[in-house]
Amino acid sequence: MSFIVAMDGPSGTGKGTITKQIAKEMKLTNIDTGATYRCVALAALRNHIGIEEEQKIIDLVDTLSIDMKQEGGNTVVLLNGEDVSQEIRGKEVTSFVPQVSAIKEVRLKMVDLQRKMAEGKDVIMEGRDITTYVFPKADVKIYLDATAEERAKRRYKQNKEKGIEMSYEEVVESIQKRDKADKEREMGALIIAPDAVVIDTTNLSIKEVKQKVKEIIQKKQKELKVKEIAYKERPNTKWKLFEQKVIKAFMGGLYRIFYRVEIRGAENVAQEGPLIICANHINYLDAAAIVIFTKRKVRFIAKEDLYRIRILSWLGHIFDVIPVNRGTQDIESMKRCMKALKNGEVLGIFPEGTRKGIAKGGKAKTGAAYMALRTGTKVVPVGISGSFKLFTKVVVNYGKPMDYTEYTSKSPEKEVLEKVANEIMDQIVMLTNQGNSCIMPKEKNSIS
Ligand code: DC
Repeated sequence: MSFIVAMDGPSGTGKGTITKQIAKEMKLTNIDTGATYRCVALAALRNHIGIEEEQKIIDLVDTLSIDMKQEGGNTVVLLNGEDVSQEIRGKEVTSFVPQVSAIKEVRLKMVDLQRKMAEGKDVIMEGRDITTYVFPKADVKIYLDATAEERAKRRYKQNKEKGIEMSYEEVVESIQKRDKADKEREMGALIIAPDAVVIDTTNLSIKEVKQKVKEIIQKKQKELKVKEIAYKERPNTKWKLFEQKVIKAFMGGLYRIFYRVEIRGAENVAQEGPLIICANHINYLDAAAIVIFTKRKVRFIAKEDLYRIRILSWLGHIFDVIPVNRGTQDIESMKRCMKALKNGEVLGIFPEGTRKGIAKGGKAKTGAAYMALRTGTKVVPVGISGSFKLFTKVVVNYGKPMDYTEYTSKSPEKEVLEKVANEIMDQIVMLTNQGNSCIMPKEKNSIS
């Protein structure tokens, strides 16, 4: 699997310089897609083919071998094995390439080539249609922008350094022409992808832009790392089962020292077969309470972010917590839940979605109801009451299993799901209140 950083933007925004430096510093392969179009333009010029001979240009592409290699932090562009890195930046190529890159067949072939160049590699690729067409699912998408005046100034300076003879007026005209060509191209036009991060570089130095881009890439890499760790399952070895037992016993002991724990209705958890335990969520400690005090192993469904914290990641792997990416339709997570139920395991879900979700005015989430209705699994509602303040009472109150087998369906309707989700939540609230009612008088006494 490759990691793709896609970067688009008009010419003169510093894409080339930024990608080159970042590639070196972050060990990514730099692919300058503009150079591929420039190679075609150069080959056409060398073969004296004009833009009016479109088919000849298209045929010419098939005879070309375009490649890039990294040498001492620089990208060397090879056309049929010849180093053309300098020649493709010349005035003639620069003014001819917008027309060449507008030919649909040329674009299709170049896009093909660009995708092949990235295969199996971690790349940073810059151009005009990378975020929208070449890699619409890139891991990171960035759009660099700057005013036309600022871009012209930069290009003029760059040309001077490279010994390219062009007046400032010529540079401005060239930039304007290229902007127009880039934005109005029929295929692969330069547009901002809706999910791209836009960076206006007008008043920023290269160093500042680079820093911003690097931060975006690093954040994504971290996210992917957490995901990778979260989704790695630990095999059920004897050692793991031992760890489960020891931790359960140890934590159970701690809970009993620090809280007055009362378990009610434990018999409502069937000794075997699939089951979904749904509880209220007031505190991080309540998930642990259910895992510890339910006789069977409960696999909780928890947000992926939990795996950012080392100890929670360790516990998550021991107790086979199923990670979920909240805010997206996490199909992988759903698949794992269904598989667990098929295997006759017990799932633990907080239908509130987040801590004190209902108290915060949220609605009961329909995930548990969906799984119950899809698989015909019974739901055991649980009310956990208590403040989890040290040495206070915590009641874990298991309710009677809720049986929805008669509504089992491959595609449960939204209204039915909501109704079931609300019913489950009502039961949870009722069970929580039952637990509270035995605590309340005591608390009242202590106040008075
Ligand atoms: O980035 P550059 O100036 O080297 O690009 C050269 C030309 O190629 C320019 O006219 C835009 C065009 N191009 C394109 O159409 N699509 C890309 N992905 C990259 C460049």
